[in-house]
Amino acid sequence: MGTLDRFRLDGRRAVVTGGSRGLGKAMAGAFAEAGADLVLVGRDAESLEQAQSELLAHGHAVETIVADLHDASTAESLGTEILARIGPVDILVNNVGGRRENIPLTEMPLDKWLGFLDLNLNSAVVCTRLLGAGMLERGWGRVINIASIAGPIVSMRGIEGRHYETAKAALVGFTRAIAADWAARGVTINAIAPGGFLTEPNRKWFRERPSFQTDFERDIPMGRLGEPDEIAGLALLLASDASRYMTGTVSVIDGGYTLW
Ligand SMILES: NC(=O)c1ccc[n+]([C@@H]2O[C@H](COP(=O)([O-])OP(=O)(O)OC[C@H]3O[C@@H](n4cnc5c(N)ncnc54)[C@H](OP(=O)(O)O)[C@@H]3O)[C@@H](O)[C@H]2O)c1
Repeated sequence: MGTLDRFRLDGRRAVVTGGSRGLGKAMAGAFAEAGADLVLVGRDAESLEQAQSELLAHGHAVETIVADLHDASTAESLGTEILARIGPVDILVNNVGGRRENIPLTEMPLDKWLGFLDLNLNSAVVCTRLLGAGMLERGWGRVINIASIAGPIVSMRGIEGRHYETAKAALVGFTRAIAADWAARGVTINAIAPGGFLTEPNRKWFRERPSFQTDFERDIPMGRLGEPDEIAGLALLLASDASRYMTGTVSVIDGGYTLW
């Protein structure tokens, strides 16, 4: 088999949490282009339908499921519903997450903190547990956890809400530990650590505080934030047989932010 053929995903089914827009939709688009059927998860039915109609253009099945992963117990029902209603999953992208709030630690209520850990960490753990079991049985699977440079590598300057760094660092710890456990069984689990990408959450921070954008861009050697489709090739690599000897890795994609 040629190298380019190893990037094909024909006959594979990929679940992308948070697949209706931003980085999730860009990664889902690459998978569909490579031949995969998709299951997109998000909270808003209308944006899911919009993404579904765009991604159907690649000629493969696109299912949608409305679920709010801010609560890890919803992730349990989601995993169960996918397996019962749609079928086995070959590729799982745990993409849902976000900082959402700029709250200093001393003002952070415990219930909020725990909710953010569900959103950024526990939901990914639950989905991996439920959907990963079938991958292990079949001897082939790919789990991709969308972490961040924030947490495992740096703490972001000029913003608080350190639930985010905490959860993303833990997500990388989880990735590496489970990768070791599953390595001999055909299932790889890798993390992507994006730097700043131009998606809605960053646009919102920039609208609220324009100086945050200028400061951020100044700290990126490439001088700009990433466009969502710039993560797609890396995600396809990790989802396919092209990366079959990679597991437990953390791929930084940040325009050089962490070099300075
Ligand atoms: N953009 C960046 O600069 C950057 C940098 C580092 C890491 N990341 C990570 O990359 C991931 C994606 O970020 P993004 O910037 O692409 O975000 P985004 O543009 O806001 O997209 C988030 C996606 O997740 C869905 N979603 C959000 N909250 C959800 C919830 N509680 N339950 C289920 N679905 C939910 C959204 O749809 P609904 O709103 O309809 O639910 C949407 O499909 C996150 O884990 C983020 O931490 C992003």
